[in-house]
Amino acid sequence: MGKALDGVRILDFTHVQSGPTCTQLLAWLGADVIKVERAGAGDITREQLRDIEGVDSLYFTMLNHNKRSITLDTKKPQGKAVLERLVKHCDVLVENFAPGALDRMGFTWERIQQLNPKMIVASVKGFGPGPYEECKVYENVAQCAGGSASTTGFDDGPPLVTGAQIGDSGTGLHLALGIVAALYQRKSTGRGQRVLCAMQDGVLNLCRVKLRDQQRLARTGVMKEYPQYPDGKFGSAVPRAGNSSGGGQPGWIIKCKGWETDPNAYLYFITQAPVWAEICKVIGKEEWITDPDYATPNARLPRLKHVFDTIEKWTMTKTKFEAMEELNKHDIPCGPILSMEELAAEPSLRATGTVVEVDHPERGKYLTVGNPIKLSDSPTEVQRSPLLGEHTNEVLQELGVSAAEIEALRTAKVI
Ligand code: COA
Repeated sequence: MGKALDGVRILDFTHVQSGPTCTQLLAWLGADVIKVERAGAGDITREQLRDIEGVDSLYFTMLNHNKRSITLDTKKPQGKAVLERLVKHCDVLVENFAPGALDRMGFTWERIQQLNPKMIVASVKGFGPGPYEECKVYENVAQCAGGSASTTGFDDGPPLVTGAQIGDSGTGLHLALGIVAALYQRKSTGRGQRVLCAMQDGVLNLCRVKLRDQQRLARTGVMKEYPQYPDGKFGSAVPRAGNSSGGGQPGWIIKCKGWETDPNAYLYFITQAPVWAEICKVIGKEEWITDPDYATPNARLPRLKHVFDTIEKWTMTKTKFEAMEELNKHDIPCGPILSMEELAAEPSLRATGTVVEVDHPERGKYLTVGNPIKLSDSPTEVQRSPLLGEHTNEVLQELGVSAAEIEALRTAKVI
Protein backbone atom coordinates (compact mmCIF):
# COMPACT_ATOMS: atom_id res chain seq x y z
CA MET A 1 0.00 0.00 0.00
CA GLY A 2 1.22 3.54 -0.76
CA LYS A 3 1.89 6.17 1.87
CA ALA A 4 0.32 9.60 2.39
CA LEU A 5 3.56 11.49 1.73
CA ASP A 6 5.00 9.22 -0.97
CA GLY A 7 7.26 11.22 -3.29
CA VAL A 8 7.97 14.02 -0.77
CA ARG A 9 11.71 14.48 -0.18
CA ILE A 10 12.84 16.00 3.09
CA LEU A 11 16.30 17.48 3.59
CA ASP A 12 16.56 16.84 7.30
CA PHE A 13 18.99 19.18 8.99
CA THR A 14 17.59 18.52 12.45
CA HIS A 15 19.26 17.41 15.64
CA VAL A 16 18.50 16.60 19.29
CA GLN A 17 14.73 16.19 19.80
CA SER A 18 12.36 18.86 18.47
CA GLY A 19 13.32 18.73 14.78
CA PRO A 20 13.89 14.94 14.69
CA THR A 21 10.40 14.37 16.15
CA CYS A 22 8.96 16.32 13.22
CA THR A 23 10.94 14.57 10.50
CA GLN A 24 10.30 11.14 12.05
CA LEU A 25 6.57 11.79 11.79
CA LEU A 26 6.97 12.84 8.15
CA ALA A 27 8.99 9.67 7.48
CA TRP A 28 6.26 7.57 9.10
CA LEU A 29 3.76 9.25 6.81
CA GLY A 30 5.84 8.13 3.84
CA ALA A 31 8.28 10.96 3.08
CA ASP A 32 11.87 10.16 2.08
CA VAL A 33 13.81 11.79 4.91
CA ILE A 34 17.52 12.37 4.26
CA LYS A 35 19.21 13.28 7.53
CA VAL A 36 22.36 15.35 7.03
CA GLU A 37 24.89 14.93 9.82
CA ARG A 38 28.32 16.30 10.48
CA ALA A 39 31.02 13.97 9.17
CA GLY A 40 32.69 12.00 11.95
CA ALA A 41 30.32 13.21 14.67
CA GLY A 42 26.65 13.10 13.69
CA ASP A 43 23.68 14.19 15.75
CA ILE A 44 24.97 14.78 19.28
CA THR A 45 22.26 12.53 20.72
CA ARG A 46 23.91 9.47 19.13
CA GLU A 47 26.32 9.56 22.07
CA GLN A 48 24.14 11.08 24.80
CA LEU A 49 22.69 8.98 27.67
CA ARG A 50 24.18 5.83 26.18
CA ASP A 51 23.23 2.52 27.80
CA ILE A 52 25.63 0.49 25.60
CA GLU A 53 29.19 1.67 25.05
CA GLY A 54 29.91 2.72 21.46
CA VAL A 55 26.36 2.10 20.22
CA ASP A 56 23.80 4.73 19.12
CA SER A 57 21.80 5.73 22.19
CA LEU A 58 18.10 5.06 22.65
CA TYR A 59 17.72 8.85 22.65
CA PHE A 60 18.87 8.86 19.02
CA THR A 61 17.34 5.62 17.81
CA MET A 62 13.89 6.45 19.20
CA LEU A 63 13.75 9.80 17.36
CA ASN A 64 15.20 8.87 13.98
CA HIS A 65 13.32 5.86 12.66
CA ASN A 66 12.61 5.44 8.94
CA LYS A 67 15.25 8.01 7.91
CA ARG A 68 18.36 7.79 5.76
CA SER A 69 21.60 9.28 7.08
CA ILE A 70 24.30 11.00 5.08
CA THR A 71 27.39 12.72 6.42
CA LEU A 72 28.37 16.07 4.97
CA ASP A 73 30.54 18.92 6.19
CA THR A 74 28.45 21.85 5.05
CA LYS A 75 31.07 24.39 6.05
CA LYS A 76 33.55 23.20 3.42
CA PRO A 77 33.07 24.46 -0.18
CA GLN A 78 32.73 20.92 -1.57
CA GLY A 79 30.11 20.18 1.13
CA LYS A 80 28.21 23.34 0.25
CA ALA A 81 28.19 22.25 -3.40
CA VAL A 82 26.60 18.93 -2.43
CA LEU A 83 24.13 20.74 -0.20
CA GLU A 84 23.10 22.93 -3.14
CA ARG A 85 22.31 19.79 -5.11
CA LEU A 86 20.29 18.47 -2.18
CA VAL A 87 18.33 21.73 -1.96
CA LYS A 88 17.44 21.40 -5.65
CA HIS A 89 16.53 17.72 -5.18
CA CYS A 90 14.25 18.05 -2.13
CA ASP A 91 10.83 19.56 -1.37
CA VAL A 92 11.33 20.59 2.24
CA LEU A 93 14.34 21.61 4.33
CA VAL A 94 13.75 21.15 8.06
CA GLU A 95 16.20 22.60 10.59
CA ASN A 96 16.42 23.41 14.27
CA PHE A 97 19.85 24.99 14.51
CA ALA A 98 20.53 27.85 16.86
CA PRO A 99 19.31 31.15 15.33
CA GLY A 100 21.38 32.28 12.35
CA ALA A 101 23.31 29.03 11.83
CA LEU A 102 21.77 28.29 8.42
CA ASP A 103 22.52 31.86 7.26
CA ARG A 104 26.12 31.58 8.51
CA MET A 105 26.41 28.39 6.46
CA GLY A 106 25.48 30.52 3.43
CA PHE A 107 21.98 29.11 2.99
CA THR A 108 19.78 32.14 3.57
CA TRP A 109 16.10 32.03 2.59
CA GLU A 110 16.91 34.16 -0.46
CA ARG A 111 19.71 31.80 -1.55
CA ILE A 112 17.52 28.74 -1.07
CA GLN A 113 14.75 30.35 -3.13
CA GLN A 114 17.24 31.04 -5.93
CA LEU A 115 18.24 27.39 -5.90
CA ASN A 116 14.72 25.99 -5.60
CA PRO A 117 11.71 28.36 -5.54
CA LYS A 118 9.44 25.45 -4.61
CA MET A 119 11.36 24.61 -1.46
CA ILE A 120 9.62 24.83 1.91
CA VAL A 121 12.02 25.83 4.72
CA ALA A 122 10.75 24.77 8.12
CA SER A 123 12.42 25.80 11.36
CA VAL A 124 12.09 25.24 15.07
CA LYS A 125 13.48 28.06 17.18
CA GLY A 126 13.27 28.65 20.92
CA PHE A 127 11.53 32.00 20.61
CA GLY A 128 9.78 33.90 17.85
CA PRO A 129 10.75 37.46 16.85
CA GLY A 130 11.28 39.59 19.96
CA PRO A 131 13.71 40.08 22.82
CA TYR A 132 14.80 36.44 23.07
CA GLU A 133 14.92 35.43 19.41
CA GLU A 134 18.70 34.93 19.41
CA CYS A 135 18.64 32.54 22.39
CA LYS A 136 19.41 28.84 22.30
CA VAL A 137 16.66 26.82 23.93
CA TYR A 138 16.17 23.31 25.28
CA GLU A 139 13.00 21.52 26.40
CA ASN A 140 12.72 22.72 29.97
CA VAL A 141 13.55 26.32 29.07
CA ALA A 142 10.57 26.24 26.72
CA GLN A 143 8.34 24.70 29.40
CA CYS A 144 9.33 27.52 31.73
CA ALA A 145 9.04 30.32 29.18
CA GLY A 146 5.79 29.01 27.69
CA GLY A 147 3.72 29.08 30.89
CA SER A 148 3.74 25.38 31.69
CA ALA A 149 6.11 25.40 34.68
CA SER A 150 4.41 28.27 36.50
CA THR A 151 1.10 26.41 36.39
CA THR A 152 2.41 22.89 37.12
CA GLY A 153 3.00 21.45 40.59
CA PHE A 154 1.48 22.16 43.97
CA ASP A 155 0.76 25.55 45.47
CA ASP A 156 3.28 25.12 48.29
CA GLY A 157 6.12 23.97 45.99
CA PRO A 158 8.31 25.46 43.26
CA PRO A 159 7.36 25.56 39.57
CA LEU A 160 7.60 22.11 38.01
CA VAL A 161 8.49 20.79 34.55
CA THR A 162 6.48 17.88 33.15
CA GLY A 163 7.69 14.55 31.80
CA ALA A 164 5.80 15.06 28.55
CA GLN A 165 8.23 16.77 26.18
CA ILE A 166 5.84 19.49 25.19
CA GLY A 167 8.63 21.91 24.24
CA ASP A 168 10.54 19.60 21.93
CA SER A 169 8.18 16.90 20.72
CA GLY A 170 5.19 19.24 21.01
CA THR A 171 6.84 21.82 18.77
CA GLY A 172 8.00 19.12 16.35
CA LEU A 173 4.39 18.05 16.02
CA HIS A 174 3.28 21.63 15.33
CA LEU A 175 6.03 21.97 12.72
CA ALA A 176 4.99 18.77 10.93
CA LEU A 177 1.47 20.14 10.55
CA GLY A 178 2.86 23.42 9.20
CA ILE A 179 4.94 21.53 6.63
CA VAL A 180 2.03 19.42 5.42
CA ALA A 181 -0.11 22.58 5.12
CA ALA A 182 2.68 24.34 3.14
CA LEU A 183 2.96 21.32 0.82
CA TYR A 184 -0.78 21.50 0.26
CA GLN A 185 -0.70 25.25 -0.45
CA ARG A 186 2.20 24.74 -2.86
CA LYS A 187 -0.11 22.66 -5.04
CA SER A 188 -2.00 25.84 -5.97
CA THR A 189 0.72 28.51 -5.68
CA GLY A 190 3.66 26.51 -7.04
CA ARG A 191 5.81 28.28 -4.44
CA GLY A 192 7.61 27.26 -1.30
CA GLN A 193 7.37 29.24 1.92
CA ARG A 194 8.92 29.47 5.35
CA VAL A 195 7.34 27.65 8.28
CA LEU A 196 8.42 28.75 11.76
CA CYS A 197 7.46 27.16 15.06
CA ALA A 198 8.85 28.74 18.20
CA MET A 199 9.00 26.43 21.21
CA GLN A 200 7.62 29.14 23.52
CA ASP A 201 4.60 29.51 21.22
CA GLY A 202 4.09 25.75 21.02
CA VAL A 203 4.12 25.35 24.80
CA LEU A 204 1.80 28.33 25.27
CA ASN A 205 -0.57 26.82 22.71
CA LEU A 206 -0.65 23.63 24.78
CA CYS A 207 -1.24 25.76 27.91
CA ARG A 208 -4.16 27.58 26.29
CA VAL A 209 -6.51 26.67 29.17
CA LYS A 210 -4.21 28.43 31.63
CA LEU A 211 -4.41 31.71 29.69
CA ARG A 212 -8.18 31.15 29.82
CA ASP A 213 -7.89 30.86 33.61
CA GLN A 214 -5.69 33.97 33.84
CA GLN A 215 -8.49 36.03 32.34
CA ARG A 216 -11.14 34.40 34.51
CA LEU A 217 -9.01 35.12 37.57
CA ALA A 218 -8.50 38.74 36.55
CA ARG A 219 -12.24 39.20 36.23
CA THR A 220 -13.52 37.28 39.26
CA GLY A 221 -10.50 37.03 41.60
CA VAL A 222 -11.19 33.36 42.28
CA MET A 223 -11.23 29.98 40.54
CA LYS A 224 -13.63 27.73 42.31
CA GLU A 225 -12.50 24.46 40.75
CA TYR A 226 -8.89 25.02 41.90
CA PRO A 227 -7.62 23.38 45.13
CA GLN A 228 -6.92 26.85 46.57
CA TYR A 229 -10.69 27.37 46.85
CA PRO A 230 -12.27 27.97 49.35
CA ASP A 231 -9.53 28.12 52.03
CA GLY A 232 -6.44 29.39 50.18
CA LYS A 233 -5.69 32.78 48.73
CA PHE A 234 -5.44 33.70 45.05
CA GLY A 235 -2.80 36.13 43.83
CA SER A 236 -2.86 37.97 40.53
CA ALA A 237 -1.40 35.11 38.41
CA VAL A 238 -2.89 31.68 37.76
CA PRO A 239 -1.57 29.44 40.56
CA ARG A 240 -0.30 25.88 40.36
CA ALA A 241 -3.33 23.62 40.39
CA GLY A 242 -1.90 20.35 41.68
CA ASN A 243 -3.88 17.56 40.06
CA SER A 244 -7.11 19.42 39.55
CA SER A 245 -8.76 19.08 36.17
CA GLY A 246 -8.19 21.70 33.50
CA GLY A 247 -11.82 21.45 32.45
CA GLY A 248 -15.26 22.02 33.88
CA GLN A 249 -15.55 18.58 35.48
CA PRO A 250 -13.50 18.49 38.71
CA GLY A 251 -10.92 15.71 39.03
CA TRP A 252 -8.09 14.63 41.32
CA ILE A 253 -5.55 11.83 41.76
CA ILE A 254 -6.53 9.49 44.56
CA LYS A 255 -4.92 6.52 46.27
CA CYS A 256 -5.74 2.90 45.48
CA LYS A 257 -4.96 -0.36 47.24
CA GLY A 258 -1.20 -0.81 47.57
CA TRP A 259 -0.29 2.90 47.47
CA GLU A 260 1.93 2.48 50.56
CA THR A 261 4.49 0.48 48.58
CA ASP A 262 3.64 1.11 44.91
CA PRO A 263 4.30 4.71 43.84
CA ASN A 264 1.83 4.30 40.96
CA ALA A 265 -1.11 2.76 42.83
CA TYR A 266 -3.27 5.78 42.07
CA LEU A 267 -6.26 6.66 39.92
CA TYR A 268 -7.41 9.86 38.26
CA PHE A 269 -11.03 10.31 39.20
CA ILE A 270 -13.41 12.77 37.51
CA THR A 271 -16.62 13.78 39.26
CA GLN A 272 -18.44 14.26 36.00
CA ALA A 273 -21.77 15.94 36.73
CA PRO A 274 -24.00 13.69 34.57
CA VAL A 275 -22.90 10.59 36.52
CA TRP A 276 -22.94 12.14 40.00
CA ALA A 277 -25.75 9.84 41.16
CA GLU A 278 -23.81 6.79 39.94
CA ILE A 279 -20.69 7.97 41.79
CA CYS A 280 -22.69 8.36 45.00
CA LYS A 281 -24.12 4.85 44.64
CA VAL A 282 -20.74 3.23 43.91
CA ILE A 283 -19.03 4.82 46.92
CA GLY A 284 -22.01 4.20 49.23
CA LYS A 285 -23.05 7.85 49.70
CA GLU A 286 -26.57 7.72 48.25
CA GLU A 287 -27.65 10.60 50.53
CA TRP A 288 -25.40 12.97 48.52
CA ILE A 289 -27.65 12.53 45.48
CA THR A 290 -30.31 14.76 47.04
CA ASP A 291 -28.35 16.60 49.78
CA PRO A 292 -28.39 20.30 48.71
CA ASP A 293 -24.73 20.59 49.81
CA TYR A 294 -23.70 17.96 47.25
CA ALA A 295 -26.48 17.58 44.69
CA THR A 296 -25.24 20.20 42.19
CA PRO A 297 -21.78 20.92 40.75
CA ASN A 298 -21.78 24.45 42.22
CA ALA A 299 -22.72 23.19 45.67
CA ARG A 300 -19.87 20.69 45.54
CA LEU A 301 -17.16 23.18 44.57
CA PRO A 302 -16.32 24.38 48.11
CA ARG A 303 -16.38 20.73 49.29
CA LEU A 304 -14.27 19.10 46.59
CA LYS A 305 -11.50 18.07 48.97
CA HIS A 306 -14.00 16.27 51.20
CA VAL A 307 -15.63 14.70 48.13
CA PHE A 308 -12.33 13.30 46.87
CA ASP A 309 -11.26 12.18 50.36
CA THR A 310 -14.51 10.23 50.61
CA ILE A 311 -14.13 8.68 47.15
CA GLU A 312 -10.57 7.75 48.10
CA LYS A 313 -11.80 5.73 51.05
CA TRP A 314 -13.58 3.56 48.46
CA THR A 315 -10.70 3.40 45.92
CA MET A 316 -8.24 2.42 48.66
CA THR A 317 -10.15 -0.86 48.97
CA LYS A 318 -9.49 -1.67 45.27
CA THR A 319 -6.46 -1.87 43.02
CA LYS A 320 -6.38 0.83 40.34
CA PHE A 321 -7.46 -1.76 37.75
CA GLU A 322 -10.34 -3.07 39.90
CA ALA A 323 -11.50 0.49 40.53
CA MET A 324 -11.24 1.30 36.83
CA GLU A 325 -13.30 -1.76 35.89
CA GLU A 326 -16.01 -1.05 38.44
CA LEU A 327 -16.26 2.67 37.64
CA ASN A 328 -16.42 2.08 33.89
CA LYS A 329 -19.44 -0.16 34.37
CA HIS A 330 -21.17 3.05 35.48
CA ASP A 331 -19.62 5.29 32.79
CA ILE A 332 -17.65 7.21 35.41
CA PRO A 333 -14.56 8.74 33.75
CA CYS A 334 -11.32 7.71 35.44
CA GLY A 335 -7.83 6.52 34.52
CA PRO A 336 -5.15 4.45 36.24
CA ILE A 337 -1.70 5.97 36.77
CA LEU A 338 0.32 3.71 34.45
CA SER A 339 4.08 3.45 34.84
CA MET A 340 6.47 3.17 31.88
CA GLU A 341 7.02 -0.43 32.98
CA GLU A 342 3.31 -1.15 32.66
CA LEU A 343 2.98 0.68 29.34
CA ALA A 344 5.94 -1.22 27.87
CA ALA A 345 4.21 -4.51 28.69
CA GLU A 346 0.67 -3.49 27.65
CA PRO A 347 -0.52 -5.93 24.94
CA SER A 348 -3.10 -3.58 23.40
CA LEU A 349 -0.42 -0.93 22.72
CA ARG A 350 1.74 -3.57 21.04
CA ALA A 351 -1.25 -4.71 18.97
CA THR A 352 -1.91 -1.21 17.60
CA GLY A 353 1.74 -0.45 16.85
CA THR A 354 1.90 2.31 19.46
CA VAL A 355 4.65 0.39 21.26
CA VAL A 356 6.92 -1.43 18.83
CA GLU A 357 9.92 -3.73 19.16
CA VAL A 358 12.66 -2.85 16.68
CA ASP A 359 15.84 -4.74 15.81
CA HIS A 360 19.06 -2.77 15.44
CA PRO A 361 22.27 -4.22 14.00
CA GLU A 362 24.44 -2.89 16.84
CA ARG A 363 22.16 -2.73 19.87
CA GLY A 364 19.80 -5.63 19.16
CA LYS A 365 16.13 -5.43 20.08
CA TYR A 366 14.66 -2.36 21.78
CA LEU A 367 11.25 -0.85 22.36
CA THR A 368 10.07 2.37 20.83
CA VAL A 369 6.92 4.40 20.54
CA GLY A 370 5.45 3.99 17.08
CA ASN A 371 3.37 6.46 15.11
CA PRO A 372 0.50 7.72 17.28
CA ILE A 373 -1.25 8.99 14.13
CA LYS A 374 -3.09 6.09 12.47
CA LEU A 375 -4.14 6.53 8.84
CA SER A 376 -6.26 3.72 7.40
CA ASP A 377 -4.73 4.06 3.91
CA SER A 378 -1.19 4.88 5.03
CA PRO A 379 -0.08 2.37 7.65
CA THR A 380 3.26 2.89 9.40
CA GLU A 381 5.99 0.27 9.54
CA VAL A 382 8.62 1.40 12.01
CA GLN A 383 12.15 0.85 10.66
CA ARG A 384 15.31 1.17 12.73
CA SER A 385 17.26 4.42 12.79
CA PRO A 386 20.18 4.68 10.35
CA LEU A 387 23.81 4.30 11.33
CA LEU A 388 25.89 7.44 10.87
CA GLY A 389 26.40 7.98 7.13
CA GLU A 390 24.81 4.64 6.25
CA HIS A 391 23.21 6.09 3.12
CA THR A 392 25.85 8.61 2.03
CA ASN A 393 26.87 6.72 -1.13
CA GLU A 394 23.30 5.79 -2.02
CA VAL A 395 22.01 9.39 -1.75
CA LEU A 396 25.00 10.93 -3.53
CA GLN A 397 24.54 8.49 -6.40
CA GLU A 398 20.86 9.50 -6.62
CA LEU A 399 22.06 13.12 -6.92
CA GLY A 400 24.25 12.06 -9.84
CA VAL A 401 27.58 12.35 -8.00
CA SER A 402 30.08 9.99 -9.65
CA ALA A 403 32.02 7.28 -7.81
CA ALA A 404 35.26 9.23 -8.35
CA GLU A 405 33.71 12.42 -6.89
CA ILE A 406 32.43 10.48 -3.89
CA GLU A 407 35.93 9.12 -3.33
CA ALA A 408 37.40 12.64 -3.52
CA LEU A 409 34.81 13.93 -1.01
CA ARG A 410 35.73 11.10 1.34
CA THR A 411 39.46 11.80 1.03
CA ALA A 412 38.83 15.49 1.78
CA LYS A 413 36.79 14.45 4.86
CA VAL A 414 33.72 16.26 3.53
CA ILE A 415 31.58 13.12 3.93
N1 COA B 1 28.50 20.44 8.84
C1 COA B 1 29.15 21.49 9.37
N2 COA B 1 28.67 22.24 10.37
C2 COA B 1 27.45 21.89 10.86
C3 COA B 1 26.72 20.81 10.36
C4 COA B 1 27.28 20.06 9.30
N3 COA B 1 26.66 19.02 8.76
N4 COA B 1 25.58 20.72 11.06
C5 COA B 1 25.60 21.70 11.96
N5 COA B 1 26.73 22.42 11.85
C6 COA B 1 27.13 23.59 12.62
C7 COA B 1 26.17 24.75 12.51
O1 COA B 1 26.34 25.40 11.29
C8 COA B 1 26.56 25.56 13.72
O2 COA B 1 27.71 26.32 13.39
P1 COA B 1 27.89 27.89 13.75
O3 COA B 1 27.42 28.06 15.16
O4 COA B 1 29.36 28.09 13.60
O5 COA B 1 27.08 28.66 12.81
C9 COA B 1 27.05 24.51 14.72
O6 COA B 1 27.10 23.28 13.99
C10 COA B 1 26.24 24.29 15.94
O7 COA B 1 24.87 24.34 15.71
P2 COA B 1 23.87 24.74 16.92
O8 COA B 1 22.50 24.61 16.45
O9 COA B 1 24.28 26.09 17.43
O10 COA B 1 24.17 23.60 18.00
P3 COA B 1 24.39 23.71 19.58
O11 COA B 1 24.69 22.33 20.01
O12 COA B 1 25.33 24.76 19.98
O13 COA B 1 22.94 24.14 20.15
C11 COA B 1 20.57 23.89 20.46
C12 COA B 1 21.91 23.19 20.26
C13 COA B 1 19.48 22.83 20.47
C14 COA B 1 20.54 24.64 21.80
C15 COA B 1 20.33 24.90 19.31
O14 COA B 1 20.48 24.21 18.10
C16 COA B 1 18.96 25.57 19.34
O15 COA B 1 18.69 26.45 20.14
N6 COA B 1 18.09 25.16 18.41
C17 COA B 1 16.78 25.77 18.23
C18 COA B 1 15.82 25.36 19.30
C19 COA B 1 15.69 23.88 19.43
O16 COA B 1 15.34 23.18 18.51
N7 COA B 1 15.89 23.42 20.66
C20 COA B 1 15.52 22.09 21.05
C21 COA B 1 16.51 21.09 20.77
S1 COA B 1 15.80 19.55 21.27
